[in-house]
Amino acid sequence: MSNIESVKVVLLGESGVGKSSLCLRFVTNEFRPYSEATIGASFMSKSVVIPMENKNSTSTTTEDSVTKINQRNIGFKIWDTAGQEKYRSLAPMYYRGSSAAILVYDITKPGSFAALQDWANELKQNAPPDLVLVVCGNKLDLNEDRLIDRGTGEKYANSIDAMYIETSAKDGDKVESLFLEVARKVPPP
Ligand code: GTP
Ligand code: MG
Repeated sequence: MSNIESVKVVLLGESGVGKSSLCLRFVTNEFRPYSEATIGASFMSKSVVIPMENKNSTSTTTEDSVTKINQRNIGFKIWDTAGQEKYRSLAPMYYRGSSAAILVYDITKPGSFAALQDWANELKQNAPPDLVLVVCGNKLDLNEDRLIDRGTGEKYANSIDAMYIETSAKDGDKVESLFLEVARKVPPP
């Protein structure tokens, strides 16, 4: 297919929140309970076809035009950064060329939620102004140990003009939605 749109995504957030696990779940549908900390950064890609809302849609649209017109072929280029402090200075190399940034925290770790503010400030100063932002509360399977409620996460996301989504890389819950929502927010070229 010649009309593949490249969507560059970077994942940022504290070490251990599950950035690599979200990428692995999305790209290969696997989960590793003992995933190792990323060194530097890691790159992954995946192509998906996403349906689009047709602004001119009518009930008479034929099946053929639905499949031909109402879809986008997206080639995700995903940079999974390392959350450990010693790699922090590398992050600009990855977010500068990105169309979207996913700011990941762990819903059971308030420190990882607080850490997003530094990322948001840094992106505001240094990233392209049209960067699509998503706040992602991961480890939804640990809901019983949750220390940041959904409303707090949503409110924060609103305050930095970001979308909000909660995921579980372990269960696979909402992981595909996370990436598809990102692609929907990135305008076609
Ligand atoms: P760095 O590479 O150091 O920045 O960490 P990371 O954000 O990539 O975290 P990683 O994906 O390596 O996950 C850290 C730990 O959390 C691993 O033991 C994962 O198995 C676990 N983990 C990741 N996502 C989930 C999840 O959704 N639920 C649960 N219960 N554990 C998770
Ligand atoms: Mg990692």
